[in-house]
Amino acid sequence: MSPEPAGDHYFTAQPGTAHRPGRVHVLLPDVHLDLETDSGVFSPSRLDAGTRFLLDVAATPGRAGDLLDLGAGYGPIALVLATRAPDSTVWAVDVNERALELCARNAERAGLANVRCALPDDPALPATFAGIWSNPPIRIGKQALHELLGRWLPRLAPDAAAWAVVQRHLGADSLHRWLAEQGWAVDRQAARTGYRVLRITRPQEPEGTP
Ligand SMILES: C[S@@+](CC[C@H](N)C(=O)[O-])C[C@H]1O[C@@H](n2cnc3c(N)ncnc32)[C@H](O)[C@@H]1O
Repeated sequence: MSPEPAGDHYFTAQPGTAHRPGRVHVLLPDVHLDLETDSGVFSPSRLDAGTRFLLDVAATPGRAGDLLDLGAGYGPIALVLATRAPDSTVWAVDVNERALELCARNAERAGLANVRCALPDDPALPATFAGIWSNPPIRIGKQALHELLGRWLPRLAPDAAAWAVVQRHLGADSLHRWLAEQGWAVDRQAARTGYRVLRITRPQEPEGTP
């Protein structure tokens, strides 16, 4: 096995690690997908347990619109959303180009024409989203994660929600506190085997506010 190139992470833009094609089966009560994976992307040999938890508990998108999978990897969240919400357009955003290529190929193989795979600065990305789903890249570090969320959460439509899954030991509770300090309404929607699913919305205006 060739060694990982120094400095390579699952969030490297162009992973230098040798290709090692694999498959992941996503088996949910309502969606079955067979996805291509590779080395150099997040969780290439099995559906991540946090991703699975998010897909189990996060709300199904309720209406047509632009949805965002922030940090899409090879596409498990984006493709499940696209299956559950066929009238929506799901934007799968990532910095890892190998992951984005897999995501686009997986969408095509699954016949999901409503998935768009994009780098974060793609000018085609819409200004607002009717929902955001994310298994965010905690390993980029706290400050980078805060900058990432500070960049994308303000693009939520006024009555929309974002859903994020985070491991407790990787800082779910401190992220929850930080989001609240930034003025977001945050509910811990579910907790299981060390994971938290946070639902993030804009705070309600108090009754009677003009
Ligand atoms: C924890 S992984 C989740 C991948 C996939 N959604 C899944 O559930 O298997 C987080 C992803 O965020 C991506 N990422 C890291 N920094 C990012 C950034 N600044 N903008 C968008 N995506 C980023 C990583 O490349 C990685 O694919």
